[in-house]
Amino acid sequence: MPDAKLPTIYVLNGPNLNLLGLREPEIYGDVTLDEIATMLEDRARDLGCAIDMRQTNHEGMLVDWLHEAQAHGARAVLINAGAYTHTSIALLDAARAIQTPVFEVHLSDPKTREPFRHLSYIGMAAAACFQGHGAKSYLLALDAAMHGDF
Ligand code: DQA
Repeated sequence: MPDAKLPTIYVLNGPNLNLLGLREPEIYGDVTLDEIATMLEDRARDLGCAIDMRQTNHEGMLVDWLHEAQAHGARAVLINAGAYTHTSIALLDAARAIQTPVFEVHLSDPKTREPFRHLSYIGMAAAACFQGHGAKSYLLALDAAMHGDF
């Protein structure tokens, strides 16, 4: 459970990210989502914040969690929406509907992959995007969420 006294960063992960480590390791690397959570918690300890990390394969759940981030006063949301990045106007609307800053995260760099990955709806509402650095993309986004000028 996150420490209620510290600013909380929601880290939301979308479809198929539960399979990180097994899933197309040549693209996404061999780090698991649990290992990324541990990396984020270690960094959060240094930065003085708490991490609330979640994963779902369901689009509407991500919408609900974006709303919840604002309702619970989260400092920021880091979101790797997986393939919903490229399809979901609902996620774009949810990110626009809240005041909580949203940071887009990707392990790979979708802009260098298939053309259908070049469009990011959530990116249209994001304060910044960190992509192409593997698991480190999450750490860069966390640093920006805590220290960035946004
Ligand atoms: C991803 C990139 C998306 O295009 C893809 O659908 C994913 C993972 C990434 O982290 O690199 O599921 O978001």
